[in-house]
Amino acid sequence: MTRSAPNLVIGADHRTCREAGSEGAVLALLVAASSLVGCSGLQSSLDPAGRGAERIAVLFWWMTGGTALIWAAVMGLTLYTVFRRREPGPRAPRLLIVGGGVVLPVVVLTGLLIWGLALLPPLLAPADGGPTIRVTGEQYWWRVQYLADDGQAIALANELRLPVGRSVELELESHDVIHSFWIPALAGKVDMIPGRRTRLTLEPTRTGVFRGVCAEYCGPSHAKMAFSVVVAEEDEVARWLAHQAEPARPATLPLAVRGQELFVASGCAACHTIRGTVADGAVGPDLTHVGGRPTVGAGALGSDQEGLRRWLAGPERIKPGVHMPAFAMLPPADLQALATYLEGLK
Ligand code: CUA
Repeated sequence: MTRSAPNLVIGADHRTCREAGSEGAVLALLVAASSLVGCSGLQSSLDPAGRGAERIAVLFWWMTGGTALIWAAVMGLTLYTVFRRREPGPRAPRLLIVGGGVVLPVVVLTGLLIWGLALLPPLLAPADGGPTIRVTGEQYWWRVQYLADDGQAIALANELRLPVGRSVELELESHDVIHSFWIPALAGKVDMIPGRRTRLTLEPTRTGVFRGVCAEYCGPSHAKMAFSVVVAEEDEVARWLAHQAEPARPATLPLAVRGQELFVASGCAACHTIRGTVADGAVGPDLTHVGGRPTVGAGALGSDQEGLRRWLAGPERIKPGVHMPAFAMLPPADLQALATYLEGLK
């Protein structure tokens, strides 16, 4: 950094004004384009796919329009002051200060506050009978439990599936530090606070795949703590959930059988549960259907064999601060067997 920074400055000295101007124009275009790109996609609160995000987007656009109007008025007054022909009367400055500096902000900000507060209650309303989902922020992943009426919980990790058009209640928890649960396309963010259980009601309005993130700095891999949210028709979600509740299918391929043996022999089973096997650890994510998830390591890598093998060999390299130890001491063939076994857990 210290070497390259002066080089940049020296380079700037040799540029002509026209070159500098065209670079500035390109930079401005890039900034404008990147800000527009942020308006759509699987992680944008300005491309809402849920009742909460819709309200937030409306509030955002009204505030943007309002501030644009105020900016235009201030600029207009500035130009008027600069180019005016005659001196203003004695009352004009006082009128401007009282009107523009006191009355206008009080009226506008009070209106926004009342409107903003009125948006909140529906976001915290109890769900209309959809599933209750408990999400716990971990270091650095998301423990997900679908709670059934009989008190049973279906354990998952880093993935949510929600029925479109139904409201779903989330119970949010953390054991150690504060995380913040945020699916920008669906709703606002809610903190996960140790010792407290916070709540959030989600009501997706269209189907699709969205991305959730942690929105509160929680450690070196805070920015690598993602999860996927699939919004689908209700019967599709019910079928998926019924499958998630089932135990893992026994491995059949010789390499996968070897991987299953290694999973227990290498100590993985002390931290992870694979239902239907002897593995019943509770420290790390439940891996019963890990091969069917879109990612491993909470969005760090794909859940294919290559992603799993890389994750097993060096999670710390991919995600600094993670609890999962590296298994780089295992021969490559053993890592491959483990990856084959885990990928097969669909
Ligand atoms: Cu968890 Cu930031």
